[in-house]
Amino acid sequence: MGVTLSTVSRKVSENGGPYPGTRSSARCNVPRADLGSPPGAAPPAGRAPGARSTAGEAGFTGNVCDVWLTWRAAMERALYGENGFYLRERPSGHFRTSVGASAVFAEAVLRELVAVAAGLGDRPRVDLVDVGAGEGALAAGVLAAAPPGLRSRLRVTGVDLAPRPAGLPGEIAWAATVPDGICGLVIANEWLDNVPLDVAEQTADGPRLIMVDPADGRETFGDRPSPADLAWLDRWWPMRVAGERAEIGRARDEAWASVIARLARGRAVAIDYAHRRGDRPPYGTLTGYRHGAVVAPVPDGSRDITAHVALDACAAAGRRAGAATTLLTTQRQALRTLGVTGARPPADRARHDPRGYLQALVHASQEAELLSPDGLGGFGWLAQTRP
Ligand SMILES: C[S@@+](CC[C@H](N)C(=O)[O-])C[C@H]1O[C@@H](n2cnc3c(N)ncnc32)[C@H](O)[C@@H]1O
Repeated sequence: MGVTLSTVSRKVSENGGPYPGTRSSARCNVPRADLGSPPGAAPPAGRAPGARSTAGEAGFTGNVCDVWLTWRAAMERALYGENGFYLRERPSGHFRTSVGASAVFAEAVLRELVAVAAGLGDRPRVDLVDVGAGEGALAAGVLAAAPPGLRSRLRVTGVDLAPRPAGLPGEIAWAATVPDGICGLVIANEWLDNVPLDVAEQTADGPRLIMVDPADGRETFGDRPSPADLAWLDRWWPMRVAGERAEIGRARDEAWASVIARLARGRAVAIDYAHRRGDRPPYGTLTGYRHGAVVAPVPDGSRDITAHVALDACAAAGRRAGAATTLLTTQRQALRTLGVTGARPPADRARHDPRGYLQALVHASQEAELLSPDGLGGFGWLAQTRP
């Protein structure tokens, strides 16, 4: 507990590069220039008076929307609605996570699984549940690398709203919801940052929800946040100065708590770009990713929309849901504990085993990428257990 999650810089340029960019702990500390009306004022020019609406009244047809949505509703539709981004696209075509970086991540998760399995004694069944599994690469990688004694006991489930990926080994089950009664390891890599959330901005009258036009990302002010959201803001992300913004992580807390509630015995680990109270970015972190480039977070279904995670708030929700122990640390620390060092092979190996030396060098650089404090190593790891 208590390790500061570092602020790390974006690894992909506005123009992207030849490879899909890593979704890093970049922060968008820039106020959005296109925010429309202050509370109570008319919507921006071009919109019929009275066009401001609650999400429930939205008339959304494909990419054309003639009303304002809360950010949570807009993200929900853009990412998981009919033909939404994640139901249609392969994430690896747009960005790179620790899973896609190399096999090193799956090997480390396997070591975590082996430790969890040992704690379960001689139970005949050990679960591995990958939440927000995307293309299922982590589940498949861990299964493939598992030693035979463990593999025969393993029950692997990928959980995602996206359809089952083609070519996934038949031993891996696929579900849209987290199963009950998990005994083993739950891993959720870059899941929570894609759980839709609302955005609030401090005004002279107090916090207001931000409404967004899904077609072009223009914004305007909406109602006051609900009492539950106001309480969350007060506890986890207080805004002091007009113009400051907060991303209301209550939906993520609930999502994580529902995972802990379904964990009967073992460990659940959420890995994500994160911040914590006292270190929140004053203007929020909403970001878009498309084809390896960072793009404006327009919730039109054409791109990933993501925001950093208040993992400390998720940790508290997990405790309320029954977690007995909590560790909140960085990926760098967590992977080091799991034996990932990034150490280069001794130089004299190059003379008597040049091929082995080169392989070891590649492996060391793959490890170093996952440990980099300015990149994936700066991600937060929240690990909670139920004995
Ligand atoms: C950024 S991708 C991460 C994929 C993979 N874990 C990785 O690290 O490469 C986030 C995934 O979470 C999934 N997701 C988001 N909300 C979900 C939910 N409520 N239930 C299941 N999956 C969800 C998305 O569909 C998407 O595939």
